[in-house]
Amino acid sequence: MIKKCLFPVAGYGTRFLPATKSMPKEMLPVVNKPLVQYGVEESIEAGLTEVGFVTGRGKRAIADHFDTNYELEHQIAGSSKETFLTSIRDVIAKGSFSYTRQSEMKGLGDAILNGKRLIGDEPFGVVLSDDLCIGDTDGVLAQMVELYKQFRCSIVAVQEVPEDQISKFGVIAGEEMKEGLYQVTDMVEKPDAKDAPSNLAIIGRYILTPDIFDIIEQTPPGKNDEIQLTDALLTQAKKGCVLAYKFKGTRFDCGSVEGFVEATNFVYKNIYQG
Ligand code: UTP
Repeated sequence: MIKKCLFPVAGYGTRFLPATKSMPKEMLPVVNKPLVQYGVEESIEAGLTEVGFVTGRGKRAIADHFDTNYELEHQIAGSSKETFLTSIRDVIAKGSFSYTRQSEMKGLGDAILNGKRLIGDEPFGVVLSDDLCIGDTDGVLAQMVELYKQFRCSIVAVQEVPEDQISKFGVIAGEEMKEGLYQVTDMVEKPDAKDAPSNLAIIGRYILTPDIFDIIEQTPPGKNDEIQLTDALLTQAKKGCVLAYKFKGTRFDCGSVEGFVEATNFVYKNIYQG
Protein backbone atom coordinates (compact mmCIF):
# COMPACT_ATOMS: atom_id res chain seq x y z
CA MET A 1 0.00 0.00 0.00
CA ILE A 2 2.68 2.50 1.00
CA LYS A 3 5.62 1.66 -1.24
CA LYS A 4 7.89 4.69 -1.13
CA CYS A 5 10.19 6.17 1.46
CA LEU A 6 12.10 9.43 1.32
CA PHE A 7 15.51 9.90 2.90
CA PRO A 8 16.54 13.56 3.23
CA VAL A 9 20.33 13.31 3.35
CA ALA A 10 21.41 16.72 2.12
CA GLY A 11 22.57 18.10 5.50
CA TYR A 12 26.19 19.07 6.13
CA GLY A 13 26.64 17.07 9.34
CA THR A 14 28.69 19.87 10.85
CA ARG A 15 28.65 18.28 14.29
CA PHE A 16 30.91 15.54 12.91
CA LEU A 17 33.50 17.73 11.24
CA PRO A 18 36.18 17.06 10.20
CA ALA A 19 34.93 13.48 9.56
CA THR A 20 32.12 14.81 7.37
CA LYS A 21 34.20 17.24 5.33
CA SER A 22 34.29 14.97 2.30
CA MET A 23 32.27 11.99 3.55
CA PRO A 24 28.49 12.06 4.03
CA LYS A 25 27.43 11.87 7.68
CA GLU A 26 24.99 9.14 6.65
CA MET A 27 27.92 6.90 5.65
CA LEU A 28 29.52 6.97 9.11
CA PRO A 29 29.56 3.35 10.29
CA VAL A 30 27.80 2.24 13.43
CA VAL A 31 30.08 -0.76 14.02
CA ASN A 32 30.31 -2.18 10.49
CA LYS A 33 27.29 -0.74 8.71
CA PRO A 34 26.69 2.83 7.52
CA LEU A 35 24.01 4.71 9.39
CA VAL A 36 21.88 5.10 6.28
CA GLN A 37 21.79 1.34 5.67
CA TYR A 38 20.07 0.78 9.02
CA GLY A 39 17.36 3.23 7.92
CA VAL A 40 16.98 1.63 4.49
CA GLU A 41 16.72 -1.84 6.05
CA GLU A 42 13.98 -0.53 8.38
CA SER A 43 12.16 0.91 5.36
CA ILE A 44 12.38 -2.30 3.35
CA GLU A 45 11.25 -4.34 6.37
CA ALA A 46 8.15 -2.11 6.51
CA GLY A 47 7.45 -2.89 2.82
CA LEU A 48 8.65 0.52 1.59
CA THR A 49 11.02 -0.79 -1.03
CA GLU A 50 11.09 2.24 -3.36
CA VAL A 51 13.69 4.40 -1.70
CA GLY A 52 14.21 8.04 -2.72
CA PHE A 53 17.16 10.09 -1.51
CA VAL A 54 17.20 13.87 -1.39
CA THR A 55 20.93 14.44 -1.61
CA GLY A 56 23.29 17.34 -1.99
CA ARG A 57 26.86 18.06 -2.97
CA GLY A 58 29.45 15.57 -1.70
CA LYS A 59 26.97 12.75 -1.16
CA ARG A 60 27.83 10.44 -4.06
CA ALA A 61 29.12 7.73 -1.72
CA ILE A 62 25.49 7.03 -0.76
CA ALA A 63 24.52 6.21 -4.35
CA ASP A 64 27.63 4.03 -4.70
CA HIS A 65 26.75 2.16 -1.52
CA PHE A 66 23.33 1.14 -2.86
CA ASP A 67 24.75 -0.10 -6.14
CA THR A 68 26.69 -3.22 -7.02
CA ASN A 69 30.49 -2.91 -7.02
CA TYR A 70 31.41 -5.51 -9.65
CA GLU A 71 35.14 -5.32 -9.01
CA LEU A 72 34.64 -6.00 -5.30
CA GLU A 73 32.08 -8.74 -5.97
CA HIS A 74 34.53 -10.43 -8.33
CA GLN A 75 37.42 -10.11 -5.88
CA ILE A 76 35.55 -11.48 -2.90
CA ALA A 77 33.45 -14.19 -4.65
CA GLY A 78 33.98 -17.63 -3.15
CA SER A 79 36.12 -16.35 -0.25
CA SER A 80 35.28 -16.42 3.45
CA LYS A 81 34.79 -12.64 3.32
CA GLU A 82 31.73 -12.97 1.10
CA THR A 83 29.41 -13.05 4.13
CA PHE A 84 30.35 -9.44 4.89
CA LEU A 85 28.41 -8.44 1.79
CA THR A 86 25.25 -10.37 2.66
CA SER A 87 23.27 -7.50 4.20
CA ILE A 88 23.97 -4.93 1.48
CA ARG A 89 23.38 -7.48 -1.31
CA ASP A 90 20.02 -8.21 0.26
CA VAL A 91 19.12 -4.51 0.42
CA ILE A 92 20.15 -3.96 -3.21
CA ALA A 93 18.13 -6.99 -4.33
CA LYS A 94 14.95 -5.93 -2.53
CA GLY A 95 15.04 -2.16 -2.97
CA SER A 96 14.99 0.32 -5.83
CA PHE A 97 16.85 3.60 -5.41
CA SER A 98 16.31 7.05 -6.89
CA TYR A 99 18.00 10.36 -6.24
CA THR A 100 17.25 14.01 -6.47
CA ARG A 101 19.16 17.00 -5.17
CA GLN A 102 18.34 19.80 -2.79
CA SER A 103 20.44 22.67 -4.09
CA GLU A 104 20.25 24.86 -0.97
CA MET A 105 19.91 23.79 2.67
CA LYS A 106 16.57 25.48 3.25
CA GLY A 107 15.31 23.08 5.89
CA LEU A 108 13.65 19.70 6.22
CA GLY A 109 10.36 20.97 4.76
CA ASP A 110 12.20 22.12 1.64
CA ALA A 111 14.09 18.81 1.41
CA ILE A 112 10.79 16.91 1.48
CA LEU A 113 9.31 19.22 -1.15
CA ASN A 114 12.30 18.42 -3.37
CA GLY A 115 11.35 14.76 -3.02
CA LYS A 116 7.92 15.36 -4.59
CA ARG A 117 9.17 14.36 -8.03
CA LEU A 118 10.21 10.96 -6.63
CA ILE A 119 7.01 10.38 -4.67
CA GLY A 120 4.15 11.69 -6.82
CA ASP A 121 0.63 11.59 -5.43
CA GLU A 122 0.76 8.82 -2.84
CA PRO A 123 1.40 8.42 0.89
CA PHE A 124 5.04 7.85 1.77
CA GLY A 125 7.43 7.29 4.62
CA VAL A 126 10.25 9.61 5.68
CA VAL A 127 13.35 8.43 7.50
CA LEU A 128 15.96 10.75 8.96
CA SER A 129 18.75 8.27 9.07
CA ASP A 130 20.69 10.06 11.77
CA ASP A 131 17.99 8.77 14.12
CA LEU A 132 18.87 5.11 14.47
CA CYS A 133 15.74 3.27 15.65
CA ILE A 134 15.63 -0.25 16.95
CA GLY A 135 12.06 -1.51 17.37
CA ASP A 136 11.13 -3.76 20.29
CA THR A 137 9.66 -6.31 17.90
CA ASP A 138 8.80 -4.79 14.51
CA GLY A 139 10.80 -1.85 13.19
CA VAL A 140 9.42 1.61 14.01
CA LEU A 141 8.36 2.34 10.41
CA ALA A 142 6.58 -1.03 10.21
CA GLN A 143 4.66 -0.14 13.39
CA MET A 144 3.64 3.16 11.78
CA VAL A 145 2.56 1.54 8.51
CA GLU A 146 0.18 -0.69 10.49
CA LEU A 147 -1.35 2.43 12.05
CA TYR A 148 -1.59 4.16 8.67
CA LYS A 149 -3.67 1.24 7.34
CA GLN A 150 -6.17 1.95 10.11
CA PHE A 151 -6.26 5.77 10.14
CA ARG A 152 -5.07 6.92 6.66
CA CYS A 153 -3.51 10.16 7.79
CA SER A 154 -0.03 11.56 8.45
CA ILE A 155 1.74 10.07 11.46
CA VAL A 156 4.80 11.33 13.32
CA ALA A 157 6.82 9.17 15.71
CA VAL A 158 7.31 10.69 19.15
CA GLN A 159 9.18 9.87 22.32
CA GLU A 160 9.15 11.37 25.81
CA VAL A 161 12.26 13.46 26.44
CA PRO A 162 13.57 15.15 29.60
CA GLU A 163 13.01 18.88 30.02
CA ASP A 164 16.62 19.86 29.34
CA GLN A 165 16.45 18.15 25.91
CA ILE A 166 13.14 19.53 24.71
CA SER A 167 14.54 22.56 22.87
CA LYS A 168 16.30 20.27 20.37
CA PHE A 169 13.05 18.83 18.98
CA GLY A 170 9.72 19.55 17.40
CA VAL A 171 7.20 19.03 20.20
CA ILE A 172 3.51 18.10 19.98
CA ALA A 173 0.39 18.62 22.02
CA GLY A 174 -2.37 16.15 21.46
CA GLU A 175 -5.40 14.28 22.69
CA GLU A 176 -4.68 10.67 23.54
CA MET A 177 -6.96 8.47 21.41
CA LYS A 178 -5.66 5.24 22.82
CA GLU A 179 -2.51 4.30 24.69
CA GLY A 180 0.50 5.84 22.96
CA LEU A 181 -1.52 7.37 20.08
CA TYR A 182 -2.41 11.07 20.00
CA GLN A 183 -4.40 13.30 17.69
CA VAL A 184 -2.13 16.31 17.25
CA THR A 185 -3.59 19.68 18.28
CA ASP A 186 -0.38 21.72 18.34
CA MET A 187 3.23 21.46 17.25
CA VAL A 188 6.19 23.74 17.96
CA GLU A 189 9.67 23.49 16.48
CA LYS A 190 12.49 23.61 19.05
CA PRO A 191 10.59 25.44 21.83
CA ASP A 192 12.16 26.72 25.03
CA ALA A 193 11.38 24.19 27.75
CA LYS A 194 8.99 26.65 29.44
CA ASP A 195 6.95 27.09 26.22
CA ALA A 196 6.87 23.41 25.22
CA PRO A 197 3.32 22.08 24.92
CA SER A 198 4.37 18.63 26.26
CA ASN A 199 7.41 16.40 26.65
CA LEU A 200 6.52 14.44 23.49
CA ALA A 201 9.26 15.09 20.94
CA ILE A 202 9.08 14.27 17.24
CA ILE A 203 11.84 11.95 16.04
CA GLY A 204 12.98 11.14 12.52
CA ARG A 205 10.20 8.82 11.33
CA TYR A 206 7.09 9.99 9.51
CA ILE A 207 4.30 8.74 7.32
CA LEU A 208 3.00 11.62 5.22
CA THR A 209 -0.01 11.97 2.98
CA PRO A 210 0.80 13.69 -0.33
CA ASP A 211 -1.25 16.85 0.38
CA ILE A 212 1.76 17.80 2.53
CA PHE A 213 3.57 18.95 -0.64
CA ASP A 214 1.02 21.71 -1.37
CA ILE A 215 1.06 22.70 2.29
CA ILE A 216 4.86 22.97 2.33
CA GLU A 217 4.71 25.14 -0.78
CA GLN A 218 2.49 27.55 1.15
CA THR A 219 4.61 27.42 4.33
CA PRO A 220 6.89 30.42 4.91
CA PRO A 221 10.33 29.98 6.48
CA GLY A 222 10.05 29.56 10.26
CA LYS A 223 12.59 28.84 13.01
CA ASN A 224 16.19 29.51 11.89
CA ASP A 225 14.74 30.91 8.65
CA GLU A 226 14.25 27.33 7.39
CA ILE A 227 11.12 25.79 5.88
CA GLN A 228 10.05 23.64 8.78
CA LEU A 229 8.21 20.36 8.23
CA THR A 230 6.74 20.86 11.71
CA ASP A 231 4.98 24.07 10.59
CA ALA A 232 3.50 22.29 7.55
CA LEU A 233 2.37 19.38 9.72
CA LEU A 234 0.61 21.76 12.09
CA THR A 235 -1.35 23.19 9.14
CA GLN A 236 -2.19 19.64 8.08
CA ALA A 237 -3.28 18.79 11.64
CA LYS A 238 -5.60 21.81 11.73
CA LYS A 239 -7.13 21.02 8.31
CA GLY A 240 -7.60 17.33 8.91
CA CYS A 241 -5.71 14.89 11.03
CA VAL A 242 -2.14 14.19 12.07
CA LEU A 243 -1.38 11.45 14.59
CA ALA A 244 1.58 11.18 16.93
CA TYR A 245 2.68 7.68 17.85
CA LYS A 246 4.79 6.78 20.84
CA PHE A 247 6.74 4.01 19.17
CA LYS A 248 7.86 0.81 20.81
CA GLY A 249 11.63 0.71 20.69
CA THR A 250 14.83 2.63 21.25
CA ARG A 251 16.15 5.63 19.34
CA PHE A 252 19.69 6.92 19.19
CA ASP A 253 20.46 10.45 18.06
CA CYS A 254 23.37 9.64 15.78
CA GLY A 255 23.44 13.25 14.57
CA SER A 256 25.26 14.01 17.84
CA VAL A 257 28.58 12.53 18.87
CA GLU A 258 27.22 11.30 22.25
CA GLY A 259 24.24 9.53 20.63
CA PHE A 260 26.48 8.04 17.98
CA VAL A 261 28.80 6.54 20.61
CA GLU A 262 25.81 5.18 22.57
CA ALA A 263 24.42 3.59 19.39
CA THR A 264 27.80 2.06 18.59
CA ASN A 265 28.05 0.47 22.04
CA PHE A 266 24.46 -0.77 21.87
CA VAL A 267 24.76 -2.25 18.39
CA TYR A 268 28.13 -3.86 19.19
CA LYS A 269 26.80 -5.57 22.33
CA ASN A 270 23.27 -6.42 21.21
CA ILE A 271 23.41 -6.92 17.45
CA TYR A 272 26.96 -7.41 16.23
CA GLN A 273 27.99 -9.83 18.96
CA GLY A 274 24.46 -11.27 18.94
P1 UTP B 1 20.04 17.99 10.89
O1 UTP B 1 20.00 19.45 11.08
O2 UTP B 1 20.03 17.10 12.08
O3 UTP B 1 21.28 17.52 10.01
O4 UTP B 1 18.83 17.61 9.93
P2 UTP B 1 22.60 18.28 9.60
O5 UTP B 1 22.28 19.68 9.19
O6 UTP B 1 23.27 17.41 8.58
O7 UTP B 1 23.45 18.23 10.95
P3 UTP B 1 24.40 19.29 11.67
O8 UTP B 1 23.48 20.02 12.61
O9 UTP B 1 25.03 20.17 10.62
O10 UTP B 1 25.40 18.44 12.40
C1 UTP B 1 18.08 16.41 10.06
C2 UTP B 1 18.02 15.66 8.75
O11 UTP B 1 17.44 16.42 7.72
C3 UTP B 1 18.28 16.51 6.60
C4 UTP B 1 19.68 16.19 7.12
O12 UTP B 1 20.47 15.59 6.10
C5 UTP B 1 19.39 15.22 8.26
O13 UTP B 1 19.25 13.89 7.80
N1 UTP B 1 18.18 17.87 6.01
C6 UTP B 1 18.08 18.95 6.82
C7 UTP B 1 18.17 18.02 4.64
O14 UTP B 1 18.25 17.04 3.88
N2 UTP B 1 18.06 19.29 4.12
C8 UTP B 1 17.96 20.39 4.92
O15 UTP B 1 17.86 21.52 4.37
C9 UTP B 1 17.98 20.21 6.30
